[in-house]
Amino acid sequence: MKPNGLKNLGILLSGRGSNFVAIADSIDAGRIPGARIAVVISNRADAPGVETARKRGLNALVSASKGKEREAHDREVVAALKKHNVDLICLAGYMRLLSPWFVRQFPQRILNIHPSLLPAFPGLEAQQQAFAYGVKVSGCTVHFVDEELDHGAIIVQKTVPVLDSDDEHTLAERILEQEHKAYSEAIGIVLEGKFEVVGRRLVRS
Ligand code: GRF
Repeated sequence: MKPNGLKNLGILLSGRGSNFVAIADSIDAGRIPGARIAVVISNRADAPGVETARKRGLNALVSASKGKEREAHDREVVAALKKHNVDLICLAGYMRLLSPWFVRQFPQRILNIHPSLLPAFPGLEAQQQAFAYGVKVSGCTVHFVDEELDHGAIIVQKTVPVLDSDDEHTLAERILEQEHKAYSEAIGIVLEGKFEVVGRRLVRS
């Protein structure tokens, strides 16, 4: 059941879930009008984000991926998302590639957050990659998910200067602060729906 035409978010995570918490806090504070979290799904039973979600009174479930063929696992996850009438999926530290089949089930309705200014430093440990490369500015990116890794059209980016005093941990912490702002902004933009994607460019109207 969807109360009052609210849009249902489905959060996928694998770990601590700080981006999930930031999204949930934004919703509770009325900063993402029209959104509710319908379900939180983890592919790992030991993800702290699952417990956090349950403590907040949200539906949280585990669909373990270990040892499963990618698309077979994705079919379980998609079934759960559809059962909860999810309109928009937010990958929030979901450490598993989605199969092309999964992506095709929800065209332009899957978002991901990545801790670098894409297209720089896709893949794992992006903050460390950026730090080791010696960039002076890094940041984070919220983007639509397509069939390629860390690749779809960009919705929001936030920059973070790299300070001389930084190490890779302090840089990652400051990027995370910006992630927590960027994700809610991006969800708000997508749910509001006043944009089109022209080529790779998201243009707001
Ligand atoms: C974040 O850095 C996010 O950008 C990346 O995975 C991390 C997840 O952190 N995709 P958390 O579980 O949201 O705290």
